[in-house]
Amino acid sequence: MVIKLLGICGSPRAGATEHVLNESLEKAAKYEEISVDEILLKNYKLPYCIHCDKCIREESRYCAHHDVNNKEIYEKFYEADAYLIASPVYLMNATGQLTSFFNLLRPVWNIMKEDPGYFWDKVGAAIAVGGTRHGGQETTINTIHGFYHTYGVHVVGGNHAYNGGTIWSKDNKKAGAKADNEGMNIVHNLIERLVLSSYQLQYGKKRYLEMKKKIMKK
Ligand SMILES: Cc1cc2nc3c(=O)[nH]c(=O)nc-3n(C[C@H](O)[C@H](O)[C@H](O)COP(=O)(O)O)c2cc1C
Repeated sequence: MVIKLLGICGSPRAGATEHVLNESLEKAAKYEEISVDEILLKNYKLPYCIHCDKCIREESRYCAHHDVNNKEIYEKFYEADAYLIASPVYLMNATGQLTSFFNLLRPVWNIMKEDPGYFWDKVGAAIAVGGTRHGGQETTINTIHGFYHTYGVHVVGGNHAYNGGTIWSKDNKKAGAKADNEGMNIVHNLIERLVLSSYQLQYGKKRYLEMKKKIMKK
């Protein structure tokens, strides 16, 4: 079996968040059957969703309004079995890049029209990196968790910090994150949970799909 774990970095630059995500994916890739991929949102044009609903009317898999170079990120998102989304903390919340990415995923509803449970066998975890020790990491993680809940992605926290990975970078990019031993330890625990939950969901999939067909009458 191949379990596809997709990491998404919400930072507009190569800094602390990208480093933490890279480390996390490197760790995850060491486990059996886990294949990792990464999307760095800084490499994409992510204009904001204008709620024109053209994607819904045209039953598109992508944003049908903006001409952007981001079709591959949609496909990667649809195909992944597990997600690890990391964001810097901006004003106690996720970055504009990340929230734009979330909003541009509105065509997800076209996929869920066919299969409302499309995301129910997937799992996600969140990491937030702030310049201040308690600068809004938890509220940022809540935003990412809210995104997962919207589509029915299972959410996992850590076994050490409850809701996810919380890093204190001291505004010092990669060096700052590397120096936060406590935070990195929390992230490592989170990866273990994420990987274990991925096995649970993927290996339970046969029975799950049988029952889903019965219960959802599809
Ligand atoms: C516009 C802006 C707002 C920020 N707001 C916060 C904040 O509310 N809380 C916090 O802890 N850090 C805040 N920071 C600091 C960043 O979260 C911190 O430097 C983080 O490590 C940046 O991640 P990066 O190195 O991956 O870009 C803010 C930075 C910017 C540019």
